[in-house]
This record gives sequence, structure tokens and C-alpha cells, in this order.
Amino acid sequence: MSGQKIHERYGGVVPELASRAHQGNILPVIDSALEIAGVKKEMLDAIAFTQGPGLLGSLLVGVSFAKGFALALDKPLIAIDHLSAHLAAHFITGPTPKFPFLCLLVSGGHTLLVKMESVTRHEIIGRTTDDAAGEAFDKAAKVLGLPYPGGPLIDKYGAGGNPYAYPFPEPSIPGLDFSFSGLKTSFLYFIRDNVAREADFIQNHLPDICASYQRRIVEYLLHRLEKASEEYNISEIGIAGGVAANSYLRKKLQEKAMEKNWNIHIPAFEYCTDNAAMVAMAAHFKYLDKDFAGQDVAAYARGL
Ligand code: KG4
Ligand code: ZN
Repeated sequence: MSGQKIHERYGGVVPELASRAHQGNILPVIDSALEIAGVKKEMLDAIAFTQGPGLLGSLLVGVSFAKGFALALDKPLIAIDHLSAHLAAHFITGPTPKFPFLCLLVSGGHTLLVKMESVTRHEIIGRTTDDAAGEAFDKAAKVLGLPYPGGPLIDKYGAGGNPYAYPFPEPSIPGLDFSFSGLKTSFLYFIRDNVAREADFIQNHLPDICASYQRRIVEYLLHRLEKASEEYNISEIGIAGGVAANSYLRKKLQEKAMEKNWNIHIPAFEYCTDNAAMVAMAAHFKYLDKDFAGQDVAAYARGL
């Protein structure tokens, strides 16, 4: 695995830089993955890759490499949707969820409530109408002058703050969908007004600001999860995606589970943010179904 430090400087992912970094990193990353796993490339059963959604330039690097690698090794090729990969994180280690399973998938690109009927069959029952939950974290962090991605930093600073210091309004949108744009705007105004009164407001109150904003997002996510659980009568519940690494969300979900008698599934921290193990896990299920891709398979930028 290789991070891309370069994006910190620009406060977000720059597509051109991302694909160039992918090109530079892909061979060394695969070499070291094989070495760490103690596996020779001839021993692989199949070559899996992320087909989409995501930045097309970066996806193309992976798709092209996977095609060439599969062809050279004469192994089957498996195309994986990023959403399925995040869901598959629940099956890497046990105990694995029973079906029907309700999963809140929250990342930088997704905010979805997913009802899973099996490892390969799922239905989306709620989604964001604007920003993703991860973006709600990252955009607020940017307002606070924190580097990208800001989600983990809001988590870190928020851990030392009072989550009840500042109230933020809970977004209201009907059904099981989500909206974060109003919250983002109210955060922006809140910071602007307070900085006008107290120039060092951010520096003086960073932990309380982070803790309060984080509480609003987490409570909102959990209220939605609770509503979905009641409507669909499912108490087998989980979270996935980068935001599922958030320590406040993990803690509050555990409390909610006690209160509601839910059987919850929280992937290990390292399987929440993007990782190759979840892609391999999703590929495992497709491999069992012999669901292989041809050499004409194409990447897609936009997903469900
Ligand atoms: O799943 P992921 O690694 O990539 C996408 O598929 O988007 O999710 C990345 C997102 C970013 O928005 C990042 O700020 C957020 O997950 N994130 C967190 C935490 N760790 C990652 N947000 C809040 N608290 C965290 N600890
Ligand atoms: Zn992701």
C-alpha cells in the first residue's frame, strides 16, 4: 500500500497527480505485497482490480496493469466495484454478518444504506443527495485550515474536546436519504461569525469544535441507521468505508447496539479506509462464482 502525500498540499486529490502517482507506485507496491505475503506471482489464482467508481485516470492505471498481468500469467481477471469491496471488508475476519444485513457505507465518495441479502446481492435503500459523509468531514477540516484528508484529524482533535460544546442542526430530509450540504454551510457560518468575534477562535477551541461537529455527523448517521433498522426490521447491522474508521462513530454504534439489541459488525480499523484486502475478499466471492472479466473490460468513473 502506498499513500499519496502530494494531495495534502492542494487540500484535496488532484486527478492528474493521482494517476501519475499510481503509475509510479503500482509496480513497487505489487512487488512488496507479493514479498510480504511470501507468494510468487505464478501462485496467484486470479488478478482482481477496482473497476470503479473513482478517478478515471487512476482506475485506468490499475485496469491496464491488471489486464497485462493476467494475460502474462494466464490467470483469470476479476473486476471489482469499489462499493462491493467496502462491503466485503466484513468477510475478511469473523464473525461474519448473517443476512439480511444492513450496512452503513460511509466514505469520501459514498454515503449509502445497503441491505445485503447475500455476499453478492445487495440493495441500496438510502443515499446522499449531495456530499458524502467523508466530504462533510474533509470540507469542514479545510475550513479549519487542516490538511487533506481532514476526517482523521477531526477524529484526533475531537477526542480531546467536548462534543456538546457547540450545537449544529441535524439535517432533515425525508426517507432514508442523507444530505450534508446544509450542515457544511452552517459550519462555515459558525466559524466565520466566531472568528469575527475572536480572531483566534479556531486555535483556542479546536478540540471542542471538532468534537461537536463530529457528534452531529455521527448522530445523524446513527439516526438514519436506526430508522432503516426499524423500517426493514433488521438488527444485523454494520458500518464500512473510510468514515467507519472514526473512533466516535465506532464508540457510539456500540452504545446504540446495546440500547437496541443490535448485533453489530465493525471491520478492523485497517479494513475501513481503502485497502487491497477488501478488494481481494470481494474477488474471492466472484472467483467462487467463476464471474470473470474479459480483456475488453473498461473502468467506470461513476457508480451506483
Ligand atoms: O473509503 P475511503 O478510504 O476512500 C473512499 O472510498 O472515499 O474513505 C476516505 C474518507 C475521507 O473522506 C476521510 O477523511 C474519511 O474517509 N476518514 C475519516 C476517518 N478516516 C478516514 N473520517 C472521519 N474519521 C476518521 N477517523
Ligand atoms: Zn473507499
